[in-house]
Amino acid sequence: MLTARIAVVASGGGTNLQALIDAQGRGELKSGSIALVIADKAGIGAIQRSEKAGIPCAVIVRREPAFEEKVLAALMEYQIDLVVLAGFLGILSGDLLRRFGKPVINIHPALIPSFCGKGFYGLRVHQAALDYGVKVTGATVHYASEIVDGGQIIAQKAVDVLPGDTPEILQRRVMEQAEWVLLPQAVETVSAQIVKEKENAL
Ligand code: GRF
Repeated sequence: MLTARIAVVASGGGTNLQALIDAQGRGELKSGSIALVIADKAGIGAIQRSEKAGIPCAVIVRREPAFEEKVLAALMEYQIDLVVLAGFLGILSGDLLRRFGKPVINIHPALIPSFCGKGFYGLRVHQAALDYGVKVTGATVHYASEIVDGGQIIAQKAVDVLPGDTPEILQRRVMEQAEWVLLPQAVETVSAQIVKEKENAL
């Protein structure tokens, strides 16, 4: 059975990675399998999560020289078909995206085009939503491009903003009710498209 080989890139706790691992464990990733985790710094939760799941993990430090070269080499070595940026805080260059030449998708914790782009990450996104006074927010999965949060949207899921929400409470709701639901669904959708293209190429 053909599947899309997936690499997940993380910078932090890895709860979105965990959502993918759990979805895979429930048999919900029918068209893809997580073949590699790339952690862009040492000591982050994503590393422990990948080890616990028995998934190969490469620590490639984003701030060290030749980061993108090392990432590309790992993607080639593991024959990756799809890259998922899950809580990744870096920006991949257009050059890397072109050289990799296969889909790279990202999850952003807001409904793009709201509260996205340079400087909008983590709690800052939810603080901005609360400051603006929006009544719904949510998460977006989109294709990565050289413009931060600028690629074509794949899927979105909304959650309510409630009275008394703090950035931390809102972030938790967006993660639990939007990100961790949406990302596995979107990864399966894109993986199925990749498998179809692989089958057509046979
Ligand atoms: C999440 O809010 C995610 O949307 C954002 O980074 C935060 C942590 O993600 N990109 P994770 O727990 O490391 O997956």
